[in-house]
Amino acid sequence: MNNAPIGIFDSGLGGLTVARAIIDQLPGESVVYIGDTANSPYGTKPVETVKHLALNVMDKLVEHGVKILVIACNTASAAVLFDARARYDRLGIPVLEVISPAVHRAVSATHNGKIGVIATSTTIATGTYQRALGAYQQVEVTAQACPAFVEFVERGITSGSELLAKAREYLEPVKAGGVDTLVLGCTHYPLLTGVINYVMGSEVTLVSSSEETARDVYRTLLENDWLNEDDATGEINFSALNGGESGAVVESDSPVALKQSNRYQFLATGNTEVFTRLARRFLGPEVGVVNQA
Ligand code: DGL
Repeated sequence: MNNAPIGIFDSGLGGLTVARAIIDQLPGESVVYIGDTANSPYGTKPVETVKHLALNVMDKLVEHGVKILVIACNTASAAVLFDARARYDRLGIPVLEVISPAVHRAVSATHNGKIGVIATSTTIATGTYQRALGAYQQVEVTAQACPAFVEFVERGITSGSELLAKAREYLEPVKAGGVDTLVLGCTHYPLLTGVINYVMGSEVTLVSSSEETARDVYRTLLENDWLNEDDATGEINFSALNGGESGAVVESDSPVALKQSNRYQFLATGNTEVFTRLARRFLGPEVGVVNQA
């Protein structure tokens, strides 16, 4: 048993899609999430810069005493995974990422072997997805950078004509590639599923890595015998979040309420007010007070 928190980070709001899946699958775990919004976007920066920024954020998470690190960002996964593993393995902290879970999912989902990948410019430039998918026989990859998508999400825009026009422009070559499966290779993109699905057509399967990554976290914690005692016993009291089974209000200073409110910590390196508003919208009520990282 290990009651230390799970450390998760992204350049901003996108990693919340991964955090949501982790909280859903492991409701007894504590989470510390950092959105590096002061340095967002990562996806237009050179790999060396992303590496430096991501290691800085992971160092902060390690200072919070996390038992595992989750790189909830494809750009950072492509840029820093090997360096991060070398740095934190020594401390006994496993580092998980979001690219290989998406690759496995896409390969099992495709029927015609034609897989599209949309991601940030930096992720596409590293060729990480193209190499990983290309390693499978009879897989044909169409890769496309969609840099403006992250800006839309960070501004809270997930619909509307401007976004639709951009999506049509970006996705045109992917549609022309005849793909039956599309990897959302940026953790911000699942927040744009409506418009992406609309443009691609519902016969194209959209793959994101959040659920698969959460399964990897579960597996790693279980295999190390590191589940939080609440997840290990399966006895989790949610009454503090939903007002109690009978609807009665739980005293805010009760042990249950304190335990639940301490469970999730969200931090941002940039403006915390904007982050709080959008993080509550995208992740849900688990986002309480967002502190400065
Ligand atoms: N959400 C991140 C990703 O998965 C990066 C977004 C960005 O900052 O460009 O690639």
